[in-house]
Amino acid sequence: MTAKIIDGVAIAKKLRTGYAERVHALAPRGIVPGLAVIVVGDDPGSKVYVRNKVNACRDIGMRSRVHSFAHDCGEGEVLSCIRTLNEDPGIHGLIVQLPVPAAFDMRRILQSVSRAKDVDGFHLYNVGSLVFGQTIFPPCTPFGVQRLLECEGITVEGKNVVVVGASNIVGKPMAMMMLQKDATVTICHVKTRDLAQYTILADILIVAAGRPNLILPQMVKTGAVVIDVGINRLPDGRLVGDVDFEGVRQKASHITPVPGGVGPMTVTMLLQNTIAAAEREANSTPIESPDFHDFERAIA
Ligand code: GUN
Repeated sequence: MTAKIIDGVAIAKKLRTGYAERVHALAPRGIVPGLAVIVVGDDPGSKVYVRNKVNACRDIGMRSRVHSFAHDCGEGEVLSCIRTLNEDPGIHGLIVQLPVPAAFDMRRILQSVSRAKDVDGFHLYNVGSLVFGQTIFPPCTPFGVQRLLECEGITVEGKNVVVVGASNIVGKPMAMMMLQKDATVTICHVKTRDLAQYTILADILIVAAGRPNLILPQMVKTGAVVIDVGINRLPDGRLVGDVDFEGVRQKASHITPVPGGVGPMTVTMLLQNTIAAAEREANSTPIESPDFHDFERAIA
């Protein structure tokens, strides 16, 4: 068996065409969806990601603004910038590019983003709503994986989904989203012993561990769908995922390449979340649901 290669670039392009139309449709109401990105320090990876986000906004007619801070700036300056952007009616989505310098209290920073503008889905309120199955802003990378599966017509219900990697940004929300779609979900992580005994059972294997060649062909069930979220730079400069692509390709039914698989979908989902935030505002739809008020009262 040779796997079908899932073309994330083509799927992202098609989705973005639809998003451009949604942006266009808001124009007569005087609304241009706007994204603000806060960057602290000079992480080289962040620079590339932020540039991609800015370009993606421009290409579909959205506004974007980048607020850059030196690595040794005070946390108060960043919090003050967040508060200003929270109140700015021209900004519908607000994200803080991670990582922030180690001296910063990342939780406090993420909690200070307005939950109505938290298009990364990192605020605890949005994390909680995801766990409750009432997602407001799905975190962009797992959301991108979910859309790739949908676009390929791959159903999740009743399937064994194994997620390798338990980060707050990818692995944990990914597992929750798959559970919400009625998959049987297993989460593996760096401390998992004998990883292969879990991965071999996967109908859908989603790998976000940040280790090149972690997944070898003998660890994969014949006909499995393999989604590689890893992005690793090898000493020779090549960019690879966490999966032995050439080997696993001979066994899987579908596989994502790196680059060109999940990567383009992450930014695409950021556009989707920001447009959704702008549409909510245009339609005066509050993000709170009655269930959450019940919940807040119950725990008060
Ligand atoms: N750093 C790596 N991935 C992400 C992401 O999805 N959002 C933000 N804000 N920072 C990141």
